[in-house]
Amino acid sequence: MPGLDDVTRGRVLFGGDYNPEQWPEETWPEDVRLMRDAGVNSVTLGVFSWARIEPRPGARDFGWLDRLMDLMHAAGIGVVLATPTASPPPWLGHLHPDTLPRDADGRTEWWGGRQHFSHSSATYRRHAAVVTEDLAARYAGHPALTMWHINNEYCTYDWGDEAAARFRGWLRTRYGTLDALNTAWGTAFWSQAYGDWREILPPRHAHYLKNPTQVLDFKRFTSDMLLECYAAERDIVRRHTPHLPVTTNFMPLWAGLDAWRWAEEEDVVSVDLYPDPRDPSGAQAGALVQDMTRSQARGPWMLMEQAAGPVNWRGVNHPKPRGLNRLWSLQAVARGADAVCYFQWRQSRQGAEKFHSGMVSHAGEHGRTYQEVKRLGADLARIGPEVAGRHRAADVAVLHDWHAWWAGDQEARPSREVAHPDLLTAWHRALWRAHLTTDFAHPEHDLGAYRLVVAPQLYLLTDAAIANLLAYVRQGGTLVCGFLTGVADEDDRIRPGGMDARLRELFGIRTLHEWWPLEPGERADCDGFAGTLWSEELEADGTADETVLYKGGELDGLPAVLRKGRAWYVSTLPEPDALRDLLARVAADAGARPVLDGLPADVEAVRRGDLLFLLHHGREEVTVEVPGTHRDLLTDTVVTDRVTLGRYGVAVLKP
Ligand code: GLA
Repeated sequence: MPGLDDVTRGRVLFGGDYNPEQWPEETWPEDVRLMRDAGVNSVTLGVFSWARIEPRPGARDFGWLDRLMDLMHAAGIGVVLATPTASPPPWLGHLHPDTLPRDADGRTEWWGGRQHFSHSSATYRRHAAVVTEDLAARYAGHPALTMWHINNEYCTYDWGDEAAARFRGWLRTRYGTLDALNTAWGTAFWSQAYGDWREILPPRHAHYLKNPTQVLDFKRFTSDMLLECYAAERDIVRRHTPHLPVTTNFMPLWAGLDAWRWAEEEDVVSVDLYPDPRDPSGAQAGALVQDMTRSQARGPWMLMEQAAGPVNWRGVNHPKPRGLNRLWSLQAVARGADAVCYFQWRQSRQGAEKFHSGMVSHAGEHGRTYQEVKRLGADLARIGPEVAGRHRAADVAVLHDWHAWWAGDQEARPSREVAHPDLLTAWHRALWRAHLTTDFAHPEHDLGAYRLVVAPQLYLLTDAAIANLLAYVRQGGTLVCGFLTGVADEDDRIRPGGMDARLRELFGIRTLHEWWPLEPGERADCDGFAGTLWSEELEADGTADETVLYKGGELDGLPAVLRKGRAWYVSTLPEPDALRDLLARVAADAGARPVLDGLPADVEAVRRGDLLFLLHHGREEVTVEVPGTHRDLLTDTVVTDRVTLGRYGVAVLKP
């Protein structure tokens, strides 16, 4: 199978979404000049160009795209060509209202924005296939074409009638019989038993709480339907260009897609990443997504979109202070990106994103944004040959599963304060602050290569996943599980005892009497730290090697944390410093070392191959002790034993 290596060929790809159809053609030569000056070597064309390519049903206008493809080729810039299917032209919805999705309240999502397509609509799928076929046939042999980009950020839901029919088909495949479905969904509760497949609906607007397994299956179904749309277009372009890789861009930690499953269907895994420049944890938020994407790719990956300056979709949209764009871009490279790309090349003057930055901002060529982009292009050109294609697996893995998220974060539960992504973030942040690099893994993946595996929260665990975790510990791995792990089975049925019996035995828990969720701001005092968000009334079975107890309150003297051998259970969310200290200690005991010892708090260190990236997230100058002699690839200077980094400074050290 073709991969990212076939495109990068020893370079880091640099560029972004290029939407020249928004501009008069006179602008194009200037675009090319500025791209070349900035070291741009890759652009994504056509993402939202369906109405331009097919202005009327069946008509074709490829002339403009022909000229652009030629222009890019002449400039030595590769083209990632997108299928335009994320935003159908108005005529499609007008002539075929069945292509439009419905929300859970039955309201239609009309054209006038984007992504107004129903994943289940046969008409939409047919039209998308035809335009994809024609695009692929036309450009298959074009020398500028390097990769395919299918659709854009698949993220739509549909509760309409055609989706309902497909949902029933999906359920038939999953369960075979209505009896099996009724059992899995627990329809004995509230008189929900189904006697005919035609009675089954997506979880539409209802008077009161919906059936949780129906909701869970609808999420599984939605991810699968979108994947069918992706795969159909991928197979078309593959038929024309079997030698070129295919990708689609994920939204980071997006609830709608099981990205583990999706990544198996991609040649290149790519993601869009927009941490808030004002967020004090923005760097770690970025690192989390980068680690997750690298893990899905099992190696180098593509940063398909980021913003060179402000976005336009937050309440308040902050620009990136001087140097931050470079720092966060190089952070992505440190964590495995072989492509640093943006939405978009030139900031739009019209349309919904005219306040969203581009690599060339409204200030133009002399604006700070473009000047910084240019500097970054030079940096990437310098380090590209040394980094591209390199990979280094981490010693620590964080477990994450979309199905556990979907089942766990539903309406009626002990606490709506608990959110799966927040827990993932809190645990990843603790490891990040301890300077431990982490991969992510699915609970059914082979975990044997990791010294430490942590599960911030896996509310739903399949039997296969439980067996996998037990085997991992039996074979010498160290496992730390957070609260609400192993509660439900695959159908969201609570396991007897409120936590799987095998896991209780693993941690030394006899009885889980009650969950005691905490109010926002409330603390559960424990020996040596405070817990937040959650606590549990646990009875130990006397086999644990170590326990930390709750102090005071209703749970006084009961175990908050248990360790039995190499298995840990943490029944609360320790405050950030305490969680960091706990995980740092467990990691050290497990033989997982921080990237460097004695790092200043603001400095992130990451290894990629034998390169050491030092990324300074602060503004005051710091000195980092790095024993030995290295060459800094960014400055081409030799550094011995220590490196000084200024505001948002970066060093890429080669031994
Ligand atoms: C997403 C989309 C882009 C653009 C950006 C704005 O990532 O893929 O088309 O809308 O958001 O941040």
